[in-house]
Amino acid sequence: MQLQTHSPQETLELGQRLGRSLSGGLVIALVGDLGAGKTQFVKGVASGNGATDPKQVTSPTFTLINEYEGQRTLIHIDTYRLKGSAELVALGFDEFIAEDAVVAVEWADRVCEAIPEDHLRIEVESIDANTRRLSFSAMGASAVACLESFNANQD
Ligand SMILES: Nc1ncnc2c1ncn2[C@@H]1O[C@H](COP(=O)(O)OP(=O)(O)O)[C@@H](O)[C@H]1O
Ligand SMILES: [Mg+2]
Repeated sequence: MQLQTHSPQETLELGQRLGRSLSGGLVIALVGDLGAGKTQFVKGVASGNGATDPKQVTSPTFTLINEYEGQRTLIHIDTYRLKGSAELVALGFDEFIAEDAVVAVEWADRVCEAIPEDHLRIEVESIDANTRRLSFSAMGASAVACLESFNANQD
């Protein structure tokens, strides 16, 4: 499934819709260049999931991991500065998943060995200054369930 957004606000709103469609244990693997809109999208997911202040989610410079308590625990990891999968696992990645949280990983292609088979892959591409294409791929049963809920939440 592919969707286009035409402003940061639209990307935020798309993230909010996904944030209302989460179930525990989901891993969201975000792929896309710097400035594509991955962090903007996760801000929306946090907000849709009921985190009090979505501005708490920023692309972390010194913090690699942010945790947000909403309907579900959302853990947002920017793996840009990690050397690879082993470093992510050393940060406790497998425990986050085991805890039934929702885990959103930026630069997922850099740590693909740590990403479980069942995940929701979202590729974010910059088309022009304000246009972004988001391509959603459900790679397993929990991701399929999430996308079904996302498609039902059309508001
Ligand atoms: N349609 C859009 N969706 C998301 N971001 C957009 C859009 N149009 C422009 N932008 C800009 O692109 C940048 C995206 O930044 P960010 O979300 O931090 O990207 P990433 O996390 O992928 O590096 C922001 O400066 C934002 O204002
Ligand atoms: Mg980012």
